[in-house]
Amino acid sequence: MQTYPTMSPTQTQRAKELRQLLQKASYEYYVLDSPTLEDSVYDRFYRELQDLEAQDPELITPDSPTQRVGERPATQFYAVEHRIPLYSLENAFDIPELQQWQERWLRQAKTLGIKPPDAPEYVCELKIDGSALALTYEDGILVRGVTRGDGTRGEDITQNVRTIRSIPLKLQGNFPPVVEVRGEAFLGLQVFAELNQQRQETGEYQFANPRNAAAGTLRQLDAQAVAERRLDFFAYTLHLPEDLSGNLSINLTNNPLVDSQPVSQWESLEFLKKLGFRVNPHAQLCADLTAVAEYYQQWDSKRRDLAYMTDGVVVKLDSFTLQTQLGFTQKFPRWAIALKYPAEEAPSICLGITIQVGRTGALTPVAELTPVALAGTTVSRATLHNGDRIAELDLRVGDTVIVRKAGEIIPEVVQVLPELRPADTQPFAMPNHCPACGSIVVKPLTEVVTRCVNSSCPAILQGSILHWASRDAMDINGLGEKLVQQLVSQKLVESIADLYELTETQLASLDRFGQKSAQKLIAAIITSKSQPWARVLYGLGIRHVGSVNAKAIVQKFPHLDQLAAARISDIAGIYGIGEEIAQSTHTWFSLPTNQSLISRLAQLGLNLGSTEPVATPSISNTNITGKVFVITGTLPNRSRPEVKAMIEAQGGKVTDSVSKKTNYLVVGAEAGSKLTKAENLGIPCLSEAELIALISKNS
Ligand code: IVH
Repeated sequence: MQTYPTMSPTQTQRAKELRQLLQKASYEYYVLDSPTLEDSVYDRFYRELQDLEAQDPELITPDSPTQRVGERPATQFYAVEHRIPLYSLENAFDIPELQQWQERWLRQAKTLGIKPPDAPEYVCELKIDGSALALTYEDGILVRGVTRGDGTRGEDITQNVRTIRSIPLKLQGNFPPVVEVRGEAFLGLQVFAELNQQRQETGEYQFANPRNAAAGTLRQLDAQAVAERRLDFFAYTLHLPEDLSGNLSINLTNNPLVDSQPVSQWESLEFLKKLGFRVNPHAQLCADLTAVAEYYQQWDSKRRDLAYMTDGVVVKLDSFTLQTQLGFTQKFPRWAIALKYPAEEAPSICLGITIQVGRTGALTPVAELTPVALAGTTVSRATLHNGDRIAELDLRVGDTVIVRKAGEIIPEVVQVLPELRPADTQPFAMPNHCPACGSIVVKPLTEVVTRCVNSSCPAILQGSILHWASRDAMDINGLGEKLVQQLVSQKLVESIADLYELTETQLASLDRFGQKSAQKLIAAIITSKSQPWARVLYGLGIRHVGSVNAKAIVQKFPHLDQLAAARISDIAGIYGIGEEIAQSTHTWFSLPTNQSLISRLAQLGLNLGSTEPVATPSISNTNITGKVFVITGTLPNRSRPEVKAMIEAQGGKVTDSVSKKTNYLVVGAEAGSKLTKAENLGIPCLSEAELIALISKNS
């Protein structure tokens, strides 16, 4: 049996203090959106607590901040019955439909013999486009987090829920002995965009919208991977012991009564805030339907400035007495309705389904459509992700489909209208052979992706070369899709390394390729040899290694040889790098074909890093380090990626949307809503020249 040194009371006390300090800092950062501790200070205290807990595991409590990410990935989730079902909401699409709903519930009240108040109040909340969660707290501690599932049974995903920083592990204030809190887990638009960008870089299929991304993330078995996705949460429903009584395993007698127990939705939202939850700040108490309509109209345009996606407004009768009296229909509460915004959807016809083969070998089906105007662009193709998705939709060529596109989100087919299906259509089947090389494809039972696993498939090679040459990798100008296609089909290039042995004569022999362009391309290829090791690593196209991860990895392994010799645990030990990335990197370096590729790259003189210790800059630019920038509009002299790189090189951060956390907005010509928002929030704006001055002042 293992024995542990007995901790002195001071250590127990210290652990408790650290827990409280870290909980408070985390609450201020994630819930209140107003950080009080520097990240580095937080990290120091966090590590101190981790050390104390490592010395004496008895000190670990379930609400310790160190317990957010569990040690072991789950092998499966278990279905659990909801104590109170999670109903969905009836939809209304315009104000007349909202008025009909009011008339309906008033009639219903009359039938039930209820005298409604003369002026019933409504609470309006933004309808967050995410995934509903039910959280149970016993004695103030988070004990269970369950997905909505079918409304009566969901999946227990407690381990994943713990990783969501805006969900308290321990309630604050005067909490009841047991509560169930419901709300929406979601991905912010910026996190969503970054996630898709990274998935594109690592060759995984893209999520069509933040809702799918949130739902997909919550159902990942590895909590570490969930933590990396940075989910967020807004609470909107509170169930107190009396709602839950009869369904509880714990004894409620002798428990302290909650003071100022909420009697309305509005009071519940206040109560949820006191318990430590993040509640959407835009909820509003409305005196009548006219005020509700105003709220709805106002948010129709303002929602575009939000950092998360909302697809409508949820209107709830405020009074709990009235809610209880009205009750539920089979599916919906009678006391609430979702007033949705018209989605950017349009019908189109699926003319064909084509298959694209990516550099990881993934076969992605794409719907070819009759062109439709959506969200300011013309859409004629929409991704279908994978074969399972097509089967789910039962999409057939010739079908009339509903296509959706919103803002930056990639177009997707959301619905098939079988009523309009022509005769003689056939269900679609994914091909058994790779359309590029003809070899048999594989689809593991546990995966949704069909893959070509032929390592010499020209489509995979083509994708790998384009990735190697791409802007964030080796940045080889002039090596575009058409040219790569020719190089591969004429077998002039059979691996990345072959690029460096191309001759001018070979290039000049290609279709529409003159001596001059050949010289230019060769020069660009040679120049790329001195690109930094982080770019080489990213360019190799190792699964899950995006450009950000590559930078983190090279910090720890400044030379390729060190990374090639590393153990999985050494790689996974890097902050921000999970087991999945570590595993795939390790596997990549163990394959003989990859080993011979890297020895050829070394012989060719590519920059594979340095074994010299890297000097960390002793002076940081205090004007920029740790500051958050947003860039908007067209800058006079520099491109946005250039400016972004300059800021990042000085330790600053560049994000896509303006929030309270933004320190500066860099403004160029034709700046839009971001500028208005920054002005409203009183965030200082800089011209390109002012930014450069700020950078040079202190560096
Ligand atoms: S109240 C019985 N409030 O919308 C009460 N739901 O279409 C039902 N949702 O399943 C939920 N924001 O996932 C409520 N402020 C909000 C919401 C919200 C988003 C989602 C929730 C629900 C779905 C119903």
